[in-house]
Amino acid sequence: MSFFKPAVPSTLPKGAPPVRHYLQFSDFSTEEYGYLLERAAFIKQKFKTFQRHQPLVDRTLAMIFEKASTRTRVSFEAGMYQLGGSVVHLTTGDSQLGRSEPIEDSAKVISRMTDIVMIRTYEQSKLESFAKHSRVPVINGLTNEFHPCQILADIFTYIEHRGPIAGKTVAWVGDGNNMANTWLQAAALLGFHLRVSTPSGYEVNEVTAAAPASMGAGSYKTYADPMEACAGADLVTTDVWTSMGYEAENEVRRKAFAAWCVDRKMMAIADPKAIFMHCLPAHRGEEVEAEVIDGPQSVVWDEAENRMHVQKALMEYLLLGKL
Ligand code: CP
Ligand code: NVA
Repeated sequence: MSFFKPAVPSTLPKGAPPVRHYLQFSDFSTEEYGYLLERAAFIKQKFKTFQRHQPLVDRTLAMIFEKASTRTRVSFEAGMYQLGGSVVHLTTGDSQLGRSEPIEDSAKVISRMTDIVMIRTYEQSKLESFAKHSRVPVINGLTNEFHPCQILADIFTYIEHRGPIAGKTVAWVGDGNNMANTWLQAAALLGFHLRVSTPSGYEVNEVTAAAPASMGAGSYKTYADPMEACAGADLVTTDVWTSMGYEAENEVRRKAFAAWCVDRKMMAIADPKAIFMHCLPAHRGEEVEAEVIDGPQSVVWDEAENRMHVQKALMEYLLLGKL
């Protein structure tokens, strides 16, 4: 019996383009967002007209979930299959991640067998460590600090309903969380005005979001009164009062956030053509009144569906570049 020679070297081929990751919204330029949003519209059109679009045949996406998910899982999984690829789904509980295998080792192993990785985890630093040791692109599927795929979908949804977002006013009402941080980065890059109203003690972490000092054409302003933030706004948006990982604070937050429920009065003071968004899952009667989320200004179901279309464009771009 003869010894076999490895079919491929153990390092990446010389001249291979550098691996790009999508760990936060600011990882891409304004120009790249222009391309991605156009491409997502093209990919959505293909899907809606039952035309096959399979540029990722034989490619595999690894999805790692350390927190629960419905939309992120379904949109990435269905999206990758539609692109012609396949998917491996891992959770903390059913992999060695839950038995303290170092994140660096997991990254080295998983990225040798798959072509792209999506991770939902706790600290952004954990995602960054994975990316540092990964041979393949890594996508942030939500961390404590950021949720870039969701904001990409939200911006696509706004444009779909109302046209360009540059120069428009977005009101964020509620927690200064991963969604709010990401909106801050998006405003800087895409040139819209972001108004943020949070209860005291739950402000956006401007250092984490790293946007105000470098606001491009956009602007960012904080408001103590959510009504003031919503006055004349083109988009009103919110999220749960207690994000995953902060459940122990639930009761304290319920009291602190009582005046930050997006209700009909807030929508009435916004621009008459204003739309309402929520990344979901939602708690009717807490951060949003049922009449608002289920009302005529709400676009939350389009917003959820658009996760899949924008993420298909994102995976295609990270693996194949501009087409
Ligand atoms: N909006 C969002 O990310 O939803 P899931 O938690 O269901 O993935
Ligand atoms: N801010 C929420 C978003 C859920 C999609 C969380 O992190 O739990």
